[in-house]
Amino acid sequence: MSAENSTRTHTPRVFSGVQPTGNLTLGNYLGAVRNFVALQEQDFERLYCVVDLHAITVAQDPAALRTAIREVAAAFIASGLDPAKSILFNQGRVTAHAELGWIFSCVARMGWLNRMTQFKEKAGKNKENASVGLYAYPNLMAADILAYRATHVPVGEDQKQHLELARDIAQKFNNDFNVPDFFPQPEPLIQAESARIMSLRDGTKKMSKSDPSDMSRINMTDDADTVASKIRKAKTDPEPLPSETDGLAERPEADNLVGIFAALSGGSKQDVLSEYGGQGFGAFKPALAELTVSKMAPIGDEMRRLTQDPEHIDAILTDGARRAAVLARPIMDEVYDVMGLIGGGRNGA
Ligand code: AMP
Ligand code: TRP
Repeated sequence: MSAENSTRTHTPRVFSGVQPTGNLTLGNYLGAVRNFVALQEQDFERLYCVVDLHAITVAQDPAALRTAIREVAAAFIASGLDPAKSILFNQGRVTAHAELGWIFSCVARMGWLNRMTQFKEKAGKNKENASVGLYAYPNLMAADILAYRATHVPVGEDQKQHLELARDIAQKFNNDFNVPDFFPQPEPLIQAESARIMSLRDGTKKMSKSDPSDMSRINMTDDADTVASKIRKAKTDPEPLPSETDGLAERPEADNLVGIFAALSGGSKQDVLSEYGGQGFGAFKPALAELTVSKMAPIGDEMRRLTQDPEHIDAILTDGARRAAVLARPIMDEVYDVMGLIGGGRNGA
């Protein structure tokens, strides 16, 4: 072990990813993309990735996948991510992800992956028929982050367990090859108020782009009327809003709508209750609809404008991939070298 290895410091670097699988929701925006944008004001290098290789862990129609990749890129840009400040790209364009994903499949243990709750949820009852990729998905996610030695990962609450696995993989690699601090321990950045936006139909389930009911979510591209009608029809209970947050316990739907209001207005749930406590949903829902439309409609409009010009989006993604690959290649060279894989990743060059 050299002294240099044991004192390695890692450049503050942010990595996060969003899957191109259907419409992005208000949950993706508040739980993830909005925080990606906020990090542009901080002293980090930033990589934001459309994780298309993750999407193919379940069957995808190729034409729909192409459209969805560009749509997530458009959502990134429309939300305020600036390709001059952040590296925006899609995962499949940079081979380091797949390379390191395989290596990490040889580092991670079956027992670790067996504990992943998302696999259990996604595979459902038919585990025997799930793809091997769906099972190994967290290894690829660890590779996404560690191929850049990213130190910080903004995500929603649901990704916390995957991030812990990434930390375990980094640690085991460092130990197995006796290279302390070779990989950093990436830290999750989770925004408390918007960590978990729940379904509009069931306050105990997360709002998800894969929910069969479109009424359960607000899509980033929904128009004003659709947003208003989904909020009007959102499930609630018959009680008025409480004036203290304690009163939201055991009221998941009310808690969720108050949380969405707080996240969109930039205040706390208590701020919202100080204003709306004692009022019924008949008064609160129209206010929430108006707020949601005022924040989300301009982003939706810009997304629609951007997706009219796929060549422009592709040019941004190609440029981002080039810059990402420049960061990843020397790290991959070191990985192969440390493992004894002669000429690894060099394609015979
Ligand atoms: P995915 O849609 O699974 O690709 O998720 C992309 C990002 O959005 C991840 O950081 C998730 O944690 C975040 N996210 C997805 N759904 C929600 C939700 N309902 N509430 C908060 N964050 C979410
Ligand atoms: N697994 C994440 C999700 O479903 C997406 C993702 C893939 C990701 N690779 C990542 C998030 C790396 C953060 C960092 O939401």
